[in-house]
Amino acid sequence: MSIETERLLPRHDNPHQLGRAVLDLIQSRRSLREGFIDKPIPTEVIDEIIQSGLRAPSSKNAQPWRVHVLERGERLAGIADTVQFAKNARDYAPIDPATGQLRQWESTVAESAQVLRAVGVGLFVENRGAFSGGRQSVANANNSVRGNGIVGYSFEMIGLGAMVENMWLSAHAQGLGGVFMGDVLVAEEEIQAELAFSGDLVGVLALGYTDLQPFEKALKADTVVYHDPSKGAL
Ligand SMILES: Cc1cc2nc3c(=O)[nH]c(=O)nc-3n(C[C@H](O)[C@H](O)[C@H](O)COP(=O)(O)O)c2cc1C
Repeated sequence: MSIETERLLPRHDNPHQLGRAVLDLIQSRRSLREGFIDKPIPTEVIDEIIQSGLRAPSSKNAQPWRVHVLERGERLAGIADTVQFAKNARDYAPIDPATGQLRQWESTVAESAQVLRAVGVGLFVENRGAFSGGRQSVANANNSVRGNGIVGYSFEMIGLGAMVENMWLSAHAQGLGGVFMGDVLVAEEEIQAELAFSGDLVGVLALGYTDLQPFEKALKADTVVYHDPSKGAL
């Protein structure tokens, strides 16, 4: 067993008080895209954010992620330009794979590039494809194994989502705001080349100090079903 796994986890004298603070933190996390101030983020803060991410759960504990850290500067600004002026930037939005038609959303690539220019750090998340071998490998798989490949890929994504959320909450706990952006995939190949990796790009968690205060969000109706009618409802 490694030293790392033998380390005792912290205990708190008043776990209930701590619990309330954690719940408030989770429920007040929002995507913040404006109001960033030009204040450098200390290395210890970035490290703490990443340490939170690395402790996320993942299927088979495969830890399919790798984080590429790029602080504000020429390289991050260069990536912002590459994203904004990518070939498909204007119509980069979800399509219905059955018809090839755009769904109701429009491209937000220009806005996402603007966020990248304003933040203090970009945490680019790579999927190393522990099960699936990556998006292309699933797409190329023959029919008999593609279903299994899609399950493996979706399990990787669930772990990666937990990892991103851990980093996002850790940032929020330390007074930083920002947003996770999948839009950067419009320039996936260029970003892979710039950051020298070959796994799939999952997105970037863009973080900085911001003046903007998170506000309560409107929740969609019909997203929870209580199957025991005697139990409460939201
Ligand atoms: C997988 C994923 C991809 C996202 N991509 C983008 C993006 O490219 N640009 C952006 O501005 N926001 C992006 N977001 C942020 C969502 O728009 C945001 O989470 C959603 O509107 C809910 O708002 P909230 O985060 O404040 O609760 C993304 C979020 C997720 C989970």
